[in-house]
Amino acid sequence: MKSIKDIDITGKNVLVRVDFNVPLDEHRNIMDDIRIRSVLPTLQYILDNNAKLLIASHMGRPAGKVVPELSLSHVAKRLGRFLEKEVKVAKDCIGPDVKALVSGMKNGAVLLLENLRFHSEEQKNDEDFAKALASLCDVYINDAFAVSHRIHASVAAITKYAPVSGAGFLLQTELNYFKKAMNEPLRPLVAIVGGAKVSSKLRALENMLQCVDKFIIGGAMANTFLKSTGCNVGKSKVEDDLVEIAGAVMKKAAEKGIKFYIPVDAVVAPQVDPKAETKIVPIKEIPPDWMVLDIGPSTSLLYSEVLYDAKTVVWNGPLGVFEMDAFSRGTTAMVHSVANSYALTIVGGGDTDVAIHKAGETDRITYISTGGGAFLYLLEGRDLPAVIALDEADCSV
Ligand code: 3PG
Repeated sequence: MKSIKDIDITGKNVLVRVDFNVPLDEHRNIMDDIRIRSVLPTLQYILDNNAKLLIASHMGRPAGKVVPELSLSHVAKRLGRFLEKEVKVAKDCIGPDVKALVSGMKNGAVLLLENLRFHSEEQKNDEDFAKALASLCDVYINDAFAVSHRIHASVAAITKYAPVSGAGFLLQTELNYFKKAMNEPLRPLVAIVGGAKVSSKLRALENMLQCVDKFIIGGAMANTFLKSTGCNVGKSKVEDDLVEIAGAVMKKAAEKGIKFYIPVDAVVAPQVDPKAETKIVPIKEIPPDWMVLDIGPSTSLLYSEVLYDAKTVVWNGPLGVFEMDAFSRGTTAMVHSVANSYALTIVGGGDTDVAIHKAGETDRITYISTGGGAFLYLLEGRDLPAVIALDEADCSV
């Protein structure tokens, strides 16, 4: 895979695929602009090299239709402020009008193309669509780590048609941190895995059995593990069809000498409601009509002890229903423990990074990934399709 630094971009039309799929409020204000800020080094580098900067992204899931609420024009102003430049917005991402706009661009100009997913061909990895996008540029750069697990035209097929393809700084940084943490970790390597479902994390858990020294489990998925140990979890969310598999994962971990930690106490409530009555109970004393909604204080203490000698920590998924204050303490305590550790700490997954921001610890985490699905894909031990496409583009040169 080429880096943008290996490519002569001076005076060229450089098309950068970014992930500007940022959260917007009901007035279309950007609620979190980290995905914009993260690609600024690449965008600025292109401008510093006196090239023409074309930016392509998706936003949301408009399913091949034009949905004005999902127009990328909502991010143009913020981007312009960061780049201290006018950012023109095209009405589409391909077609004769876009071509005309591109051919009228001067070196150092910026054009933001409209949402790629307004065309259904994007998600179908359509060759003609990829060709049309590629025809806009001399150089294609992928800096969209967060969507690099998708086999979509703007990250996969496009590399067959762009004259030269390479990786931006964000994509390289994400891959490098991940490699450092998972492929060549300082040990002990601790994986913290939370979130709602074992089913969505099973592949990652099984893959990590190959390399981690300790697992810390939280979130609703912990209930399935607890049930596999014979624990009565009341009316908590459980994936009954996975109880046996969860038990097998724990058994395999034990056989390999991997420490596998599950909660020892919990914050429980009769229902998922921010105003619900709550109790802290030992894990073996969950009332039948109550549900586990967060790890308890003893578990927080235990988990912080588990991190004490960690040299590398990888974290995906919150440990409770952290968006409700009453059930956020476990995740927040974990954020502080991770921040206080002396380890290389890598966190990925949409919700987990929100928890870190909320706890005010962004500066004390080594690296917060911009990818949710893409980060999980890597944890599953899979190569990102967009990275494979960049590698293949190199081989075909
Ligand atoms: C994300 O937010 O995880 C990426 O932008 C990918 O979006 P998608 O899940 O809709 O493909």
